[in-house]
Amino acid sequence: MFTVLSSLFGFSVTFLSSQLVRADCECGYTVNSTLYTDLIETDFLHLANITNDTDWQPQNYTVTPELARGPYGKNASISNVVANPLKSPYDWAGDGVNGGDAGLQLLVRGGLPQDGLIPMAEVATARTDMLYGSFRAGMKVTGTPGTCGAFFWYFNDTQEIDMEFLSAEFNSTSQPVNLVLQSPESEEAGFNAANTGTFQVHQLNFTPSQGFHEYRFDWSPNAVDFYADGVLLDTMTSAVPTAPGHITLSHWSNGDPNWSAGPPTEDAILTVEYLKGYFNSSDAARQQDWSKRCISPSAVNATCPVPEITQAPNGNASAHTFFFSLQANDTGNQTVSGSSKKSKGIALDSTLTGVVVSTVMLLSMIWGLV
Ligand SMILES: *[C@@H]1O[C@H](CO)[C@@H](O)[C@H](O)[C@H]1NC(C)=O
Ligand SMILES: *[C@@H]1O[C@H](CO)[C@@H](O)[C@H](O)[C@H]1NC(C)=O
Ligand SMILES: *[C@@H]1O[C@H](CO)[C@@H](O)[C@H](O)[C@H]1NC(C)=O
Ligand SMILES: *[C@@H]1O[C@H](CO)[C@@H](O)[C@H](O)[C@H]1NC(C)=O
Ligand SMILES: *[C@@H]1O[C@H](CO)[C@@H](O)[C@H](O)[C@H]1NC(C)=O
Ligand SMILES: *[C@@H]1O[C@H](CO)[C@@H](O)[C@H](O)[C@H]1NC(C)=O
Ligand SMILES: *[C@@H]1O[C@H](CO)[C@@H](O)[C@H](O)[C@H]1NC(C)=O
Ligand SMILES: *[C@@H]1O[C@H](CO)[C@@H](O)[C@H](O)[C@H]1NC(C)=O
Ligand SMILES: *[C@@H]1O[C@H](CO)[C@@H](O)[C@H](O)[C@H]1NC(C)=O
Ligand SMILES: *[C@@H]1O[C@H](CO)[C@@H](O)[C@H](O)[C@H]1NC(C)=O
Ligand SMILES: *[C@@H]1O[C@H](CO)[C@@H](O)[C@H](O)[C@H]1NC(C)=O
Ligand SMILES: *[C@@H]1O[C@H](CO)[C@@H](O)[C@H](O)[C@H]1NC(C)=O
Repeated sequence: MFTVLSSLFGFSVTFLSSQLVRADCECGYTVNSTLYTDLIETDFLHLANITNDTDWQPQNYTVTPELARGPYGKNASISNVVANPLKSPYDWAGDGVNGGDAGLQLLVRGGLPQDGLIPMAEVATARTDMLYGSFRAGMKVTGTPGTCGAFFWYFNDTQEIDMEFLSAEFNSTSQPVNLVLQSPESEEAGFNAANTGTFQVHQLNFTPSQGFHEYRFDWSPNAVDFYADGVLLDTMTSAVPTAPGHITLSHWSNGDPNWSAGPPTEDAILTVEYLKGYFNSSDAARQQDWSKRCISPSAVNATCPVPEITQAPNGNASAHTFFFSLQANDTGNQTVSGSSKKSKGIALDSTLTGVVVSTVMLLSMIWGLV
């Protein structure tokens, strides 16, 4: 009898777990059929205090003029990272609580710096285990000349993916984004990628300082694809990074007339409305979490396609972009920030449901036997 029971129990559990999906997207998120297991999503339009968001680390450091390779050095301070959320949680565009565009403001302070260091702002993800992924930033860069607005992925100075906006380059006929993969060649040239094969000044068909746009790069083992508002700008296939790293949003100036120019004559603001990353993790524990939760890869909704942006996220309807982390059931067992975590308990509740179902099934089978 005991043997019969345990084999019945074993059978019912195996049978159920091959069918069971505890939440949607448990096997990950797909971008044009490439699967990524992990995500980070931050809605800065509604985030009141970034220090409460465990995904992000506002930076506090100084760099000498010599190391900054400019006439001026840099002073990144937390006071230049300013949350300016929308007044109403139901809106998706408009002015923030402090006036001006809503979102996370990264400031470069205007005027000649007192101590040779230009005050600037930078935030980086806490996670440093991002190994291949699709990364998207909704942002509006400054129109004040003399800064570099940068959305980048970083491992080290020769493994780096950059989308950089130099506000001094904007005029009525030129509105470029600088696309860069840093490489050993750019290091040899004093971190000037201009003459390497992985540097492109790409003219945009809009003015980046006049509205919010989605900037994106998809990094796979063989290539990096750069996009703006869902339109492919360029593909680079050499100097593709191979190590895990993190995402940074930075707004800075070192006065270098050949790059950032500046310092700006007045405070310059880069505003970020969101950051979304769908990526694989180099971390063994995170990989194991994925293997455990991805129990039926072919089940309905086991993988979820990441929606594509096809228009500028600039205005109430278009800025209301999709977040898996704002759905009830799409981020079970994922590492998401303390403030944006909405899926607490989902995986546990569904597991309990599974146990209840298997117990009921087991009992009815015993009943049948008796
Ligand atoms: C969560 O996803 C599972 C699997 O797709 C589904 O059965 C369940 O109804 C979903 N729960 C909610 C609250 O959406
Ligand atoms: C998706 O993949 C197909 C086939 O490789 C390719 O033609 C297409 O351009 C890709 N789309 C995007 C948005 O990358
Ligand atoms: C990400 O990891 C998943 C699961 O291991 C794998 O199927 C997928 O191919 C990986 N994606 C890339 C771009 O390496
Ligand atoms: C943000 O939260 C931290 C931690 O609670 C607090 O120290 C800080 O003063 C807050 N900042 C603002 C601008 O409210
Ligand atoms: C930030 O977190 C602290 C401690 O958890 C809390 O007291 C504070 O109200 C939070 N601030 C905001 C703006 O959410
Ligand atoms: C920033 O760094 C300086 C120098 O290390 C330190 O004195 C200061 O307390 C830090 N400020 C914050 C807000 O962490
Ligand atoms: C950096 O900027 C902060 C904030 O304005 C200021 O308190 C600090 O003294 C500055 N540090 C240096 C070394 O200039
Ligand atoms: C970056 O990392 C790669 C791989 O570990 C290494 O070969 C390269 O020398 C590093 N570059 C720098 C500037 O440290
Ligand atoms: C705009 O900038 C480009 C590149 O720096 C320059 O060649 C061009 O002359 C400028 N046009 C105007 C109208 O200033
Ligand atoms: C800017 O570029 C010019 C021409 O390549 C060079 O002579 C000059 O030294 C550069 N200036 C700085 C500050 O790097
Ligand atoms: C799959 O996801 C879609 C979109 O979230 C949802 O409408 C549908 O109910 C899900 N299907 C299952 C079986 O959970
Ligand atoms: C994911 O679920 C496993 C149990 O399957 C648990 O041990 C782990 O702590 C969870 N990880 C996260 C980040 O929630």
